[in-house]
Amino acid sequence: MANPNFLIVAFAGQSHINPAFQLAGRLLRTGASVTFTTTTTAHRSMSGIQASDRLTFATYSDGAEEGPKLSNFSLEQHMEDSARRCSEAVRQIIEASRGKGENFTCIFYTAVAPWVGEVARCYDIPSGVLWIQPATLFEIYYYYINGYGDSITNESNDPSSPTQLPGLPPLTGRDVPTFLTPGSPFRFLFTLIEKEIQSLKGDRKARLLVNSFDALESEQLNAIDELKMVAVGPLLPSLEGRGSSGASPGGDLFLGSRDYIEWLDTQPAASVVYISFGSISALSKPQKEEMARGLLSTGRPFLWVIKKALIMDGGDGDGKQEESEDQLSCMEELQKQGMIVPWCSQVEVLSHPSVGCFVTHCGWNSTLESVVCGVPMVAFPLWADQLANAMLIQDVWKVGVRVSGNERGVVEGEELTRCLEMVLGGGERSEGMRGNAKRLKDAAREAGKEGGCADKNLKALLEELVSG
Ligand code: UDX
Repeated sequence: MANPNFLIVAFAGQSHINPAFQLAGRLLRTGASVTFTTTTTAHRSMSGIQASDRLTFATYSDGAEEGPKLSNFSLEQHMEDSARRCSEAVRQIIEASRGKGENFTCIFYTAVAPWVGEVARCYDIPSGVLWIQPATLFEIYYYYINGYGDSITNESNDPSSPTQLPGLPPLTGRDVPTFLTPGSPFRFLFTLIEKEIQSLKGDRKARLLVNSFDALESEQLNAIDELKMVAVGPLLPSLEGRGSSGASPGGDLFLGSRDYIEWLDTQPAASVVYISFGSISALSKPQKEEMARGLLSTGRPFLWVIKKALIMDGGDGDGKQEESEDQLSCMEELQKQGMIVPWCSQVEVLSHPSVGCFVTHCGWNSTLESVVCGVPMVAFPLWADQLANAMLIQDVWKVGVRVSGNERGVVEGEELTRCLEMVLGGGERSEGMRGNAKRLKDAAREAGKEGGCADKNLKALLEELVSG
């Protein structure tokens, strides 16, 4: 029988490329061949990665050569355009492989991209969705579609009647993913999720892979009878294998100076507050000022990633661009106490011994990276799945504290200081969080090591696929 041969299609975003490329690594480790597909622009920016006899890249245009479209950028339009370009590319890749007498064993793709599944079905090729958020989120969306829609939607307005789903604490309005909020400008993203879930239910050959692991979400991974979730995480760049530039071989889309590592080397153990809001979002100017006030009042050293937002600012969900690189009023004081950078190699930062706390927007990759590195968190969710992820951090795993906003939705400096002191200030709760973080770190490393649960689950899935 021919060697298994997989196609991986990654949506062109950092939070998709990272886990998708790690999945490629795991598949290569089994002796299979992999064709990795994303846009030409994203691929050009992936660092430290070379094709080999079993790893091929097949890229497609995202239209960048047609010039920038930022002035009237619409995420909905962008997704439609991506769907069209990506479907066509996947068709061509399949046709080309058939032309050589080959056939893909399975097409894996990062959710949400139901169009890839549709193409796979046209050619009768099995497909596997790589869900890049926690199993908890898949569960919430699944139950929302299957009988709990009213309960979850009402909950957004009525905090006195929380929704109870299998294996989760009662869901309150502040935990509900914002795509489900009535009137959300991102509701169209939920319709894609719904489509993905329906096709997973209707396609016997389709599989659902989740970037999580049993010890982290054991009940959630088993919360749906009719859809089996296969835990293949944590899918994170390994620190071994790092090139001489220090660039992660996982496909960092933004590279720059690495002075911050030298600076971290000079700081005491577990003392530094690391602050980052992922690859898409940024804070509004007033929120940044409050963040700065909070940091200054703790007096603790910090490393803060401030970058331009691609799509939206501080979680108001209006989909507007924030492009200003505004100076903070207290920049000079901030620069004496810590460091501000436009991007960093996050896994390397989180695994640095001087980092003691991560102020995070709770994007799933960031959350998982913090878990794997054993760093307690201040959960500062902005939108989408991040609200439910913050609930996991504070209420389920007890490895962090969640901030509360004021009546205008702004998290004030005093609130940030309070949360930072709860995590870093010593005392029973702080020690408890540190102990829980350490336990999860050990479990994550056990699950992700060569031959661990993730490899075993993937191997069983591949055997199923190969035997048809
Ligand atoms: C998006 C959504 O916003 C998030 O809610 C969802 O869970 C995944 O998709 P994003 O906001 O980019 O993701 O956050 P996250 O999932 O945390 O991914 C960001 C990635 O960028 C992480 O892997 C992180 O290590 C990396 N990163 C971020 C850096 O390498 N350097 C930085 O300075 C910031």
